[in-house]
Amino acid sequence: MRRGWLRLARSYWGKGFATEAAKGSLRVAFERLNLDEVVSFTSVINWPSRAVMERIGMVNTSEDFDHPALPEGSES
Ligand SMILES: CC(C)(COP(=O)(O)OP(=O)(O)OC[C@H]1O[C@@H](n2cnc3c(N)ncnc32)[C@H](O)[C@@H]1OP(=O)(O)O)[C@@H](O)C(=O)NCCC(=O)NCCS
Repeated sequence: MRRGWLRLARSYWGKGFATEAAKGSLRVAFERLNLDEVVSFTSVINWPSRAVMERIGMVNTSEDFDHPALPEGSES
């Protein structure tokens, strides 16, 4: 299953849409698909995305990793 709040047009940020969609994704994952676990990840500096994760109750496990497709030292 893919992420639930991949990208919103900037004009739709700050209205709670991503959080609502993410909550819906979790409901589908646990209640309809009966998954045991859902994980999410983003760039360390992507505070809006991290905030969505926190709002829906996800816990930061601090398991950071370097994105395999990005050049070494990239901050994205
Ligand atoms: C990640 C992304 C989708 C998050 O969007 P977002 O608008 O910050 O998140 P939400 O839709 O949940 O909105 C939450 C904000 O809306 C506010 N809000 C306004 N009305 C609201 C309502 N009715 N209900 C809930 N929140 C509401 C919240 O207070 C919060 O504001 P804050 O950020 O100032 O605290 C967006 O930043 C994005 O598209 N980024 C580019 C792509 C990207 O990085 N994707 C993630 C890759 S992992």
